[in-house]
This record gives sequence, C-alpha cells and structure tokens, in this order.
Amino acid sequence: MAHFPKRTMTCGDLRAEHDQQVVTLNGWIDVVRDHGGLLFFDVRDRFGLTQVVLDPAEVAPALVEDARQLRPEWVVAVTGRVRRRPGASVNAARPTGEVEVVATALQILNPSKTPPFLPTDEGGVNEELRLRYRYLDLRRPALRESLELRHRFFLEIRRVLDREKYIEVETPMLTRMTPEGSREYLVPSRVHPGRFYALPQSPQVFKQLIMVGGMDRYFQIARCLRDEDLRADRQPEFTQLDLELSFGDEEDVFAIIEKVLSESIQAVFHRTVPTPFPRLKYRDAMLRFGVDKPDLRFGLEIQELSEIWRGAGFRVVDDVLAAGGVVRGLRVEGGAARLSRKEIDALTPFVQGFGAKGVAFLKLEAGQLVGPLAKFTDASRLAALTAACGFAEGDLLLIVADRERVVCRSLGELRNDLARRLDLLPKDGRLAFSWIVDFPMFDWSDEEQRYVAAHHPFTTPLEEYAGQMAKEPGKVLARAYDLVMNGWELGSGSVRIHQREMQGRVFEFLGITAEEAREKFGFFLEAFEYGAPPHCGLGLGLERTLALLLDRPNIRDLVAFPKTASASDLMNGAPSEVPLKQLKELHLQVVDVEPSAGGPKKP
Ligand code: AMO
Ligand code: AMP
Repeated sequence: MAHFPKRTMTCGDLRAEHDQQVVTLNGWIDVVRDHGGLLFFDVRDRFGLTQVVLDPAEVAPALVEDARQLRPEWVVAVTGRVRRRPGASVNAARPTGEVEVVATALQILNPSKTPPFLPTDEGGVNEELRLRYRYLDLRRPALRESLELRHRFFLEIRRVLDREKYIEVETPMLTRMTPEGSREYLVPSRVHPGRFYALPQSPQVFKQLIMVGGMDRYFQIARCLRDEDLRADRQPEFTQLDLELSFGDEEDVFAIIEKVLSESIQAVFHRTVPTPFPRLKYRDAMLRFGVDKPDLRFGLEIQELSEIWRGAGFRVVDDVLAAGGVVRGLRVEGGAARLSRKEIDALTPFVQGFGAKGVAFLKLEAGQLVGPLAKFTDASRLAALTAACGFAEGDLLLIVADRERVVCRSLGELRNDLARRLDLLPKDGRLAFSWIVDFPMFDWSDEEQRYVAAHHPFTTPLEEYAGQMAKEPGKVLARAYDLVMNGWELGSGSVRIHQREMQGRVFEFLGITAEEAREKFGFFLEAFEYGAPPHCGLGLGLERTLALLLDRPNIRDLVAFPKTASASDLMNGAPSEVPLKQLKELHLQVVDVEPSAGGPKKP
C-alpha cells in the first residue's frame, strides 16, 4: 500500500474530454503563481505539465497554508476536479492546456532545497554546475527528450536487426588488450598479482570469434571504453551498434546498415533517408573535400590548380612544386564581395592552425584581378584558371600550396568553415550519408616512425595490393569503409582477414613478431585455424548519430551521466583515490603522485 495518494493520471494526460473527472497527480512543482485571490501551480512529471488552481475561499485553511509553502521542485500529490479553462486562458502550446485541475487535496511528499538551477533555465547556467547536479539537469525537457529518443532509437534498431535474423550477444567487459589503436583502461587483478584486465575499446576480437563460432549474424548495442583525449564528439565510455556478418561482403554490410538507419530514423524521427547511400573512394574524398569525412550538403569542392602558376614567378608555388607538393584552391562563387580584406587576412592564422604556411587569394571584380595572386595571373593563366574551375567575374579564389597532406587538411577545414560563414548549409534538415571506401591499409606514424594499421590489423587488403605490402605499404588499399554524415564519421568497418596466413603477414608487417602475436592474440590466430568463415562488419557510434539527428553540438547530451573533457564525473568525483588497504589487495602502489594532487575536485 502506498502511503500517499497514488496518481490516477500522469501530468501529460488530461484533455477537455476529462472535464469534471476527479484525478490525482504526482509530480514536481514547476512554477507557482500567487494571483492574490487564486493560487496557481504547474505540476510536472516525465509526461508533461498540468496546471492546478486553488481558490482559498473554497477549500480548508490547512490546504491553503500547505499550498502557499510550495516552491519549485517540491514533490507533491494533488487531487482535484478537472475543469475546462475559460476560452481566454486556454494554453494552446501545451497538450494539457485546455484544462486545469481544481485542487481539493494536497500532500507534500518531499520538499526540495532551492535548486542551483531550474529545469526551465535553458541557457546561462554554468555547464559544470549542470554536470555537478546532473540529476537536476535530467529534469530539463531537452535532456529528457534526448534520453527518450535514444531509448526509442535503440528499440527500433533491435527490432529491425531481429527481423533480419541478427542476434544480440554480449561480450565481456573484463578482457585483454587488443591492437585497435586506442589506449585502454586497465583493471588490476586481485587474484593474479601484477596482471591486468583491459576494458574493451570495442568488441572487435569477440565479434570475429562469434563468427568463427557460427552465429552468422551478430549485433550488440555495446559499451566501448577508450582512454583517449576527449572532444565534443568523444566520451571515454560510449555506445556502438556493433555488427558482424558471415558469408558476405561490403555490399551486405552497406545494405543492412542502410536498412537499419533508414527504418529507425523514419520511425523515430519521421525523417526520410534516401538509400542507397552514395559511395566515394577515400582518394576522391581527399581530393575533392580535403577530408575523409566530407560534408556533402554543399559544393565548394577543392580544385587541383598545381599547373596554373608554375613558372609565373610566384616563389611559394614554384618552391612547393619543386619539392613535390601541390597547389589547390577553393573557388568561392560570388565571394569577391562577400569576404572583406580583413576577413580574408584572418584566414591565414586559420590555415596555419592546420600546418599551412599561408593562403593566397585572387578576386575578379569589375574585370580587375585583385589580391596577391593578381600579378602572377596574366590573361592566359586566367583563361586556364577559368577552364579549370570556372573562376569568373565576382568570384574569390583561395589557394594553399604545400605538401599534399597539409593542403588537404587546411582546405578541407577552410571549406567547412566557409560553408558556415557564407551560410551554404541547407536548412532543410538534410542527412547526407555516404560511404567512404578503399581506405589506405596503413598510415605512416610520425610519432612512432613506422607504418600502423589505418583501421585495425584485422582488415583485408584489396586483393590487387596484397602482394605489395612490403614494397609500397603506403599504396596498399584496404577493404575498409567509413560511414559519414554531414561531415562527421559515424561508423567504421571492414572485410576481415579470415585466413591465418594473411593475418600473420599483416601482423609481421606491422612489426608484431610471431612470438608477440602468439603471446598476445594466440587464441585469436588459433581460432582461424579451425574454419573461420569469411566475415565483415562495422561499428557505428550511436551517440554521434543521435547528436546529429537531434542537432546537439556535444554528444554529452545523449549520455545520462557523461564525463568532462578531462574524463571526470563532476557529480560523483570519479576517478577517486582509493584506500591504501584496497591498493594493497590489488598489489598496487601509487608512486610519483602528490597525495591529492591533480585529479578532479571532490564534489
Ligand atoms: P572505430 O574505432 O572507428 O571502429 O569506432 C566506430 C565508431 O565509434 C564511434 N566512436 C566514438 N564515439 C564516442 N566517443 C568516442 N570516444 C568514440 N570513439 C569512436 C565513432 C566511430 O566511427 N571495431 C571497430 C569497428 C569495426 O571494424 O567493426 C571500431 O570500433 O562514431
Ligand atoms: P609572401 O610571398 O610570403 O609575401 O606571400 C604572398 C601571399 O601568399 C600571402 O598572401 C601569403 O599569405 C600567401 N602564402 C604564403 N605561403 C603560402 C602557401 N604555402 N600557400 C598559399 N599561399 C601562401
């Protein structure tokens, strides 16, 4: 038996048709308005807000006294009769706005201290304060909505995958290190002194073993943990739709992911996602957009212009070309009048942030060439430029000359920046999905001075390159693909190596010795000797996907209890120091740390 009047309706239920019904509501006090004569307060729960009115002339003095005490965020049970509001006081913006409840009884279930902020405070509240009191912030409609939509989206994904014969399998959280590229969180073993479990950066190894285990079609809404530098699109714990299938190839992965996304986005967000998604080779994405996660909602493509100013006397260009670099640019249609000299000058530090030395520009205004490139652009060069990229009256051209990698990066970032600045992004809520395919197999790591796996070392090289690994590793392409939307990488995957011999060769190339491979992934390599089927799959970041769908700038809004950029939880103070006794049990000793130096502040 509840010791309080239990609700008969939620705060979102009442409509005109409930006129004259006696109801009980449970919830939080949202706002209180004392109109001298009448007392009004809104009661709120997850489902909505209902206006309650109390006429001191009509009810017992004790009830009036209780009602006058009410403050925001107090928890109450209210009983009363529903009545239609008089015409002028109908609130059409609120689903319950046609009615109010005339209170006949009120029970205060729990008072609240004055909260540091109210659920109605959308802006202006310090973010740290919100995180410190996350449970209060969760009362904010925008956050509640994100969590509800997250839930419904996951349900829908599960529904589609179940229908397509995928089964959800959970894989361990306490596991061992895998070579996937991110730093892992480690958990010390009490039972095995000096040994550690690793928390999974993804279920990669397990899902491949699930294929060896004959499950055929696997998925998991999987928690992944990575000890990496955090940004707006990264949390140390996040959730992937992790998927793997046997006896198929890229086409099957693309088809199932397109199906899952288009159906669940339609069902939950009522937005139509055209399929199939366009595909773009990595090399073309870099050439045309400068990045491997192009925003395809607007044009402004990068132009290859290396030959236009060769030998024209522009030192920067000639030096760069002589050193094997490239000259590329962006033609901003009608840009001559849209960017001032001052704004153009500000682009230099912008591209320098991405390693370029500068950016030179050219405008064609009233038939006159203007800008640092003008004196190197004679009539024939202007004609060549027009032929190359359509440069014409009123246009602005911005060029960067440098090593190809630097040119791509700086123009790619500049392209995105200009799109925002010049308002080139369509406002129709378009979701421009694409598959980026044919990624390089290996990336050169300046830090480690060696090649590392570009995706992960379980990825199959494209057949025609398989023999080339040792000779020209930089040229080897992989059967790896990324799913990109509106300039964000949402997912990554590949066709996996399923033959022991090829896996050994890739490990060997990556400098993982046979002995090391046996020691670290012996179990994995061994599994491949017992009939591993051809298999492939993908991991899709679900917070990122939802953040884009909901137009939230930070994936934090999709996580109930997120961490800050320094991976701390401001609410509970994690990570925290632990008692010496516990460290001892774990055979650990903390060295070189001032007691309580660094680390997050205790709440
Ligand atoms: P990858 O490491 O590319 O691939 O991760 C896949 C997707 O997960 C999301 N993601 C993140 N989201 C939030 N915070 C993070 N710190 C974070 N890191 C990654 C991104 C990314 O595209 N095992 C492979 C998949 C496979 O090959 O099947 C993997 O994990 O959206
Ligand atoms: P300078 O010859 O150094 O006076 O540079 C002439 C113009 O070229 C200036 O607008 C510079 O910002 C620009 N510039 C310098 N280096 C580069 C580069 N690597 N690529 C493109 N423009 C550059």
